[in-house]
Amino acid sequence: MVNAAKTKPAPIINRLVVVGLGLIGGSFAKGLRESGLCREVVGVDLDAPSRKLAVELGVVDRCEEDLAAACVGADVIQLAVPILAMEKVLARLAQLGLGNAVITDVGSAKGNVVREARAVFGERLPRFVPGHPIAGSEQSGVEASNATLFRRHKVILTPLEETDPAALALVDRLWRALDADVEHMPVERHDEVLAATSHLPHLLAFGLVDSLAKRNENLDIFRYAAGGFRDFTRIAGSDPTMWHDIFLANREAVLRTLDTFRSDLDALRDAVDAGDGHQLLGVFTRARVAREHFSKILARRAYVDAMNANDLIFLAQPGGRLTGRIRVPGDKSISHRSIMLGSLAEGTTEVEGFLEGEDALATLQAFRDMGVVIEGPNHGRVTIHGVGLHGLKPPPGPLYVGNSGTSMRLLSGLLAGQPFDVTMTGDASLSKRPMNRVANPLREMGAVVETGPDGRPPLTIRGGSKLKALTYTLPMASAQVKSCLLLAGLYAEGKTTVTEPAPTRDHTERMLRGFGYSVESNGPVASLQSGGKLTATRIEVPADISSAAFFLVAASIAEGSELVLEHVGINPTRTGVIDILRLMGGDITLENQREVGGEPVADLRVRGAKLKGIDIPEELVPLAIDEFPVLFVAAACAEGRTVLRGAEELRVKESDRIQVMADGLITLGIKCEPTPDGIIIDGGQLGGGEVHGHGDHRIAMAFSVASLRASAPIRIHDCANVATSFPNFLKLCADVGIRVAEEGKA
Ligand code: S3P
Repeated sequence: MVNAAKTKPAPIINRLVVVGLGLIGGSFAKGLRESGLCREVVGVDLDAPSRKLAVELGVVDRCEEDLAAACVGADVIQLAVPILAMEKVLARLAQLGLGNAVITDVGSAKGNVVREARAVFGERLPRFVPGHPIAGSEQSGVEASNATLFRRHKVILTPLEETDPAALALVDRLWRALDADVEHMPVERHDEVLAATSHLPHLLAFGLVDSLAKRNENLDIFRYAAGGFRDFTRIAGSDPTMWHDIFLANREAVLRTLDTFRSDLDALRDAVDAGDGHQLLGVFTRARVAREHFSKILARRAYVDAMNANDLIFLAQPGGRLTGRIRVPGDKSISHRSIMLGSLAEGTTEVEGFLEGEDALATLQAFRDMGVVIEGPNHGRVTIHGVGLHGLKPPPGPLYVGNSGTSMRLLSGLLAGQPFDVTMTGDASLSKRPMNRVANPLREMGAVVETGPDGRPPLTIRGGSKLKALTYTLPMASAQVKSCLLLAGLYAEGKTTVTEPAPTRDHTERMLRGFGYSVESNGPVASLQSGGKLTATRIEVPADISSAAFFLVAASIAEGSELVLEHVGINPTRTGVIDILRLMGGDITLENQREVGGEPVADLRVRGAKLKGIDIPEELVPLAIDEFPVLFVAAACAEGRTVLRGAEELRVKESDRIQVMADGLITLGIKCEPTPDGIIIDGGQLGGGEVHGHGDHRIAMAFSVASLRASAPIRIHDCANVATSFPNFLKLCADVGIRVAEEGKA
């Protein structure tokens, strides 16, 4: 029963008439009858057994055979007849005295219904509200009526200019009472969208099956047809009459989408004919991820699994110690840059150890959208068919980069040098983050950059600007801003020079050199000249020290632990976490130090230790900028007071990491005090409780680690974004002895 848990609302109309008691009409009638919003629900159907059944099954209160008799005193008339029968019914209704009744319909195409309504209703048109529920099932007939059929399904209403807002509001209200997600859009848009998403695929399925069935060898074709054929053609089992109606009703829009598809199909045919594997690979690699990609955009959250769009809760059990050897996933910063530079290089770049996390995948998708053919990722392997510095193509729409600040800020630099306009959008968290730090210096270089209010995303970068080189001193220590400007510098006339107030990660500079591009680094100053080119190379991405950090702290705070983290990147601009933990008394040794592809790596051995509170040296802040959430957990477990200053940047990360961590630690019984640019934490005994990840991956993981020293379980809300940087975090926790899992799963 719809709204079973809620008390029934008072009726808002007297009489609802539903014309046509098939699956859709019957379900609408039944749901509303149960909702209590209508005093009486009357059904009309030409078929006598259907009328009888409708009453017996409680779909309607009573039935009429005659339309005129049914419509006497109607407040709302719902037309649920086949789409080509709509014309006749509308014409008959127009002859009846319907008073102020609102008329609505469920036709799958709207243009034809509206044309007919316009022709017959004249001045009564404002009381007509065209609609289309996108729901159905393989069952049909009144016996399949289901009061919950429309729950969480989209219903599109296509009001006309003349439509009376009160009539629209009433129809909207009725659908919402059935728990439908109601949207409004213009008629033409509806027909265009449905032609592409529903009508075209049905035409292809019917057409393909028929084309194969007509051939001589048809028995063999069907005998050897595998799952793919069956999946692709499932919808060819749909009702032929209904679909014949739909194609006749939505002729123009179907023809337009079919013509576009036909030319794409011709292009594929030409590629096969010409043996153009590159073109085929481009289409296939883009198509393979497209469905998932668009669901992510629609869910408008981080670039994460839409299945987890609701609150994903981690439940961490208290206690434990860590043992074993693990390799955490690839470095996020280096993974982003490998896609960017690989795409802009000449030749084919092979990447190994790529982080298959949502943020780096957002960058990968952005370059696919700009025409770069990228194979993978497959177990961390990615093959990028570079297009050269001037080979990117305009993307078909805005680039959606989810939760990823690195994607948006670095891309803005290199997009400033392109001949086309691009808009970049992101999820709720990214949409709050400051972008003027890149927009302002890019404007100084001559770029045209538009931001949302207060310099927040979306970011639109106009193409075709002639960039001139810039000499710039960063107002904050930010590798993203530095990298953005160096990437813009590849396209700017002259020598671009960036000076940073404190050392920040230098992966961009190192990797540019790896691609054969000369970059000068002189203490805090990095500079490059435009006019060079990038040459494809091989990149081995080391394990991410920012991900390793969770285990460095975990093993340090859990007495009796000994853990080895393999192949971790120890670029000196990233090792602040090791220095800080050592200052606190941590026991971390670097083994097997070596260099891969221009980046130093080592295996890190960490043992449980008695930590003590410290004043964190300010010069270490940029070198551990992403590791503070978990370092705060170390401080909470240390003896004495830890003080952090000079870290106001933490307030503009994926969340306000100072406030959010302070809130959580206080909930867990730790005394701490946030300050404008840092925090003061007094070590103590962690208790259990409910804390919030705030959609910030590193907060969720930090509190998971805290459980090792908690006296009771910690329940962490909003953890889905852990997938942005560390997709197998829970698995590795289980492997080494941290007892955290998705709530409800072992
Ligand atoms: C990053 C730089 C840092 C860091 C982020 C990744 C990069 O950001 O926090 O996770 O890859 O350049 P800022 O430049 O804003 O400090």
